[in-house]
Amino acid sequence: MESATRRAGLDQWKPMTTNANELMEKLSALAKRRGFIFQSSEIYGGINGFWDYGPLGVELKRNIKDAWWQDIVHKRDDMLGVDCSIIMNPRVWEASGHVVNFNDPLVDCKQCRARFRADKVFLVVVKNSDNILLHAGVEADTAEQARQLAAESASSKIRRRLEDRADQLTWRIDRADQLPQGVEGLCPLCGGVLTDARKFNMMFKTFVGAMEDSSSVAYLRPETAQGIFANYKNALDSSRVRVPFGIAQIGKAFRNEINPRNYTFRSREFEQMEIEFFCHPSQADEWYEYWRKARFDWYVGLGLTSSKLHLREHEKSELAHYARACADIEYEFPFGVNELEGVANRTDFDLTQHQKHSGKDLTYFDDQTKERYIPYVIEPSGGVDRATLAFMCEAYTEDQAPDEHGKPQPRTVMKFHPRLAPVKVAVFPLVKKDGMPEFAERLNRELTLAGLATFYDEKGAVGRRYRRQDEAGTPFCVTVDGQTIQDQTVTVRDRDSLQQIRISADKVLDYVRQRLV
Ligand code: GAP
Repeated sequence: MESATRRAGLDQWKPMTTNANELMEKLSALAKRRGFIFQSSEIYGGINGFWDYGPLGVELKRNIKDAWWQDIVHKRDDMLGVDCSIIMNPRVWEASGHVVNFNDPLVDCKQCRARFRADKVFLVVVKNSDNILLHAGVEADTAEQARQLAAESASSKIRRRLEDRADQLTWRIDRADQLPQGVEGLCPLCGGVLTDARKFNMMFKTFVGAMEDSSSVAYLRPETAQGIFANYKNALDSSRVRVPFGIAQIGKAFRNEINPRNYTFRSREFEQMEIEFFCHPSQADEWYEYWRKARFDWYVGLGLTSSKLHLREHEKSELAHYARACADIEYEFPFGVNELEGVANRTDFDLTQHQKHSGKDLTYFDDQTKERYIPYVIEPSGGVDRATLAFMCEAYTEDQAPDEHGKPQPRTVMKFHPRLAPVKVAVFPLVKKDGMPEFAERLNRELTLAGLATFYDEKGAVGRRYRRQDEAGTPFCVTVDGQTIQDQTVTVRDRDSLQQIRISADKVLDYVRQRLV
């Protein structure tokens, strides 16, 4: 995350060019309407920070995880997979430092009692020579965003003055937990004064067994990484790998976020896909460079525009307590540039801590060099839900497509990479007669049995059926028509180019498969 102080400055305010809110509203409406994402327990009013994936969403998310697993685990010979329990011995979290250090700064409004993450609330003060023009608390991810939001929410009179007198103004933007001595933060909701920042531990606590006392406290894991470290010796001893090698895991993580925000971006329950890559300390810098690039390229290969992705190296002051270096792969979400995945050099911190706390030998003996050491760890750690959201934001497109009469009509289309698309092929009979439904159903069944996710639809005008599949992001629609019955050929319509080609029905499977890589 970009440090606020680095971005806070005296540059001039520029209005936002895109209507991010409108885009996110359209995307979340489509996600609900078409069954990608629902609010958790919606019939009871929902629960903040928790989300459910519907029939299309679960396929999309599964395809992202499968693509990661295939590319990271199956296609490499230096990677092992594990699936560890969510609740672990609580001593794991003492050793890892989470019990003491996994905190976010928290502030309360003294007036309306609202709570905020202090590093996400900014005090914005704009002055000209003798007057304060603007003095407001703003909830934002970065100082730059706070500047824009503060200006946008100001009265039209103030906005005009901000624009007209830009060169005579000084802006000061401070994070609520980094305010100068004697300056008070302001509540973004009611303008009341904020308390001083204090630490809030984000791990969810629970009790194991029938007793609810301090001896039975356990935590829902806040990251999947520690399960990997705790199993490092098991994985090593039960397989034939040698350092350098990695252990990969996909699974749920839980954080009691103070302010879940931006749709699914910051949730309280989410999934991670993490790699802990163990290497000799002298090779850690090389592997760090390797994984930064490999992970960036992975997102590009699955359709994120490279110019919307940024690799941002952390400043020393931003580094977590365990990291020697860290880079964020950031994506330009409609609501701002935000972290998609982190790649960190965790050194030998975790294995050393677990060796100390467990009393078990976690050193590695290289039988070729006869050297014994604790490996360094490079950790690419991504969020499945954030990746899903990024792929959805990238895919969302409004364009025009001709209707049955050739007249251009606006359409909304989710341009997912075919590998990620929830449904790969839709099969339609043009009309419900003359043997077309039977042929189409047979073809659909063959494609399904061959392992493709398909959708059979015979209801309504074919143009409307195409539109529904465009919204679902289905890359290919196969239509069975009168000619099919004569010569066993079908049309295949490409979602993005809208081009239709006619091919033999028995070639459809190969045609689609070739385009799923
Ligand atoms: N093991 C290192 C680790 O957990 P992190 O930067 O805290 O590092 C890694 O998390 C990734 O997990 C993030 O880049 C993000 O994609 C995802 N993530 C973290 N907190 C999240 C949240 N509250 N909601 C959704 N995804 C989250």
